Amino acid sequence: MLRVEDINTYIGGSHIIQGLSLYVEKGGAVCILGRNGVGKTTTLRSIIGLTPPQSGKIIIEGEDTTRLPPHKIARKGVAYVPAERHIFPELSVEENLILAARPSEKRGAWTIDRVYEYFPVLSSRRKQEGTTLSGGEQQMLAIGRALMGNPKIMLLDEPSQGLSPLLVKTVVKIVQKLFEEHDLTLLLVEQNFRIALQLAKKHYLMGTKSKIQGVVTSEEILENEEIIHKHLTV
Ligand SMILES: Nc1ncnc2c1ncn2[C@@H]1O[C@H](COP(=O)(O)OP(=O)(O)OP(=O)(O)O)[C@@H](O)[C@H]1O
Ligand SMILES: [Mg+2]
Repeated sequence: MLRVEDINTYIGGSHIIQGLSLYVEKGGAVCILGRNGVGKTTTLRSIIGLTPPQSGKIIIEGEDTTRLPPHKIARKGVAYVPAERHIFPELSVEENLILAARPSEKRGAWTIDRVYEYFPVLSSRRKQEGTTLSGGEQQMLAIGRALMGNPKIMLLDEPSQGLSPLLVKTVVKIVQKLFEEHDLTLLLVEQNFRIALQLAKKHYLMGTKSKIQGVVTSEEILENEEIIHKHLTV
């Protein structure tokens, strides 16, 4: 579904992503685990074309999208949910959702009613301004908005950021259900391995300058938590 081949991405003059490769199979749930500042967000931004790589390739469903602008990459079925959520200010919850709609003929396609079924709290707040929602509700709105585009693959940046443990639990549960019940591929970014373990099966351990220090399964992490202490703050 997604193949990143030896990409190099610069921001300003800094060489942030240095020769990164990774692979997410169709229907897979993969996480990039790494500490602050290693380049996790820049990886997602490279894939969606917001900070395109200077060399290397991004292949989505067999097609080279490396040089495409973000809106064209999005149209290939890639949704990006930034850690900051980027809810449109001055628009209601419902307007935030409607603006992102890209209807699909496919059976089981996402509509606003289906998003409301998944996120009842959004339904009850549909007329409220999106930016006045709580952090967890904004996270749900950001995910719901991504779904309105009927994506094939979702790039999810630290869904737990800034949320209380209880809200994290709620969001994790909903995302789990979402990926169990739908034909969706996930590329998640996290520094909290407990959340990563609940949402993904394969984990790329990213160190400084985006260097991949290992690829492990959830089982391997559970059997050897040392892996995590070596690579992450807990
Ligand atoms: N707009 C920018 N200008 C300059 N440097 C940047 C910019 N955005 C990111 N960087 C640098 O690139 C590196 C990687 O940043 P990135 O946001 O990808 O890290 P991250 O792994 O997502 O970190 P975090 O866990 O804190 O979100 C950092 O050293 C950061 O300072
Ligand atoms: Mg980040």
